[in-house]
Amino acid sequence: MEKKIVYDFDMPVSRLGTHAEKYEARERFFGKADVEPFWVADMDLPTPEFLVEKLRARTGHPMFGYTEQYDEVFDAVQWWMKNEHQAEIESAWISLSPSVVTTISMAIQCCTEEGEAVAVLSPVYGPFFTCTKINKRKIADVPLCVENAKFEIDFQALEKTLSRPEVKLMLMCNPQNPGGRAWSFQCLEKVVALCVKYRVILLSDEIHSDIVYAPAKHRSVLNLPAADEIAVVAHSIGKTFNTSGLQSSFVVIKNPKLRSAFRRAQDRAHCGDINLFGKAALASALSPAGAEYKRQLLVYLHENTRQVCARLNQVENLTVMEPEATFLVWSDFRAFGDWQTVFRKLINEANVALSGGNFFGPAGEGWFRINCAHPRSVLLPAVERIVDIFSGA
Ligand SMILES: Cc1ncc(COP(=O)(O)O)c(C=O)c1O
Repeated sequence: MEKKIVYDFDMPVSRLGTHAEKYEARERFFGKADVEPFWVADMDLPTPEFLVEKLRARTGHPMFGYTEQYDEVFDAVQWWMKNEHQAEIESAWISLSPSVVTTISMAIQCCTEEGEAVAVLSPVYGPFFTCTKINKRKIADVPLCVENAKFEIDFQALEKTLSRPEVKLMLMCNPQNPGGRAWSFQCLEKVVALCVKYRVILLSDEIHSDIVYAPAKHRSVLNLPAADEIAVVAHSIGKTFNTSGLQSSFVVIKNPKLRSAFRRAQDRAHCGDINLFGKAALASALSPAGAEYKRQLLVYLHENTRQVCARLNQVENLTVMEPEATFLVWSDFRAFGDWQTVFRKLINEANVALSGGNFFGPAGEGWFRINCAHPRSVLLPAVERIVDIFSGA
């Protein structure tokens, strides 16, 4: 019997010298090169050795020429979606894409015209806004409500927005970044019904869907037959396997007309393929070995987010959203003054670099997002420093 690998997530691994953005861009974004970084949403936890070995083995051959889109990649995606997300998909429905943000941009280009509008539920991952704006489309922002320290959708406001004739596309973050919400089946059903009613294409960004903590469960839009005609589902191994720098993402579109339109947009931008390391990584990660790594990773990340939330919630006037999904903790610092004051305190006094809420749209102002995908020996002392600075403040 094969020996089970036990992953050690406690061991800090230095990323200095690897051009990691989270580290190298500290001076530029925070004005302090040695502030401890808990911002960019990648993990300071290592990619599993079996995947690294796959890449190492490929570098053993000295030619890195044009590489076909081979079956193992598509088989792996199908296997993963069936086993991890109970979604039966055909190989033909899958397209490769360098990144989820590329997919968002392509969806905007193929589903909307200049001057039309894209619906978003904010606060949400910044490129939902920037991709829309750079493509000269309008943002139709539907702010989320906060109820019992969780985001909820205002369905009345959403219906009003989707009923506007210029709204042709909705970008949904499922699970939600920054709030860590794993949207329920009922909630997705309602969103899909509204999109169908008003003929709006629904892009479901499911990049965080493998990081969901029981009893919460990820519900893919692919599990909703009502969404078959309107859904573009974007996923990636970037978050779960810490491979965002490899640019290995995929898209699932069941509707053949929509899929052709999406692929034409990809062809125009020449971005319907990924590099050979991305393909090797997809084929390797989306496997039983990858599922076991994910299972162990989730135990570690869940404990991290639980401990961070429990500690920060002890600070008077500081409230955090305990995530059902993602390794991110969305924290409300509005009681401690304007966001610039809090930002400076976090950097200069607590020595932590967090993602500022403005990145997630106007509704995020005064909030900060903490990345908990770090070894506990690094994460928990940083949280203690935040607690010290803001207790009694
Ligand atoms: C919701 C969401 N979508 C997309 C991305 C980026 O994905 P990619 O690197 O594949 O473009 C992120 C990264 O943080 C994210 O949180």
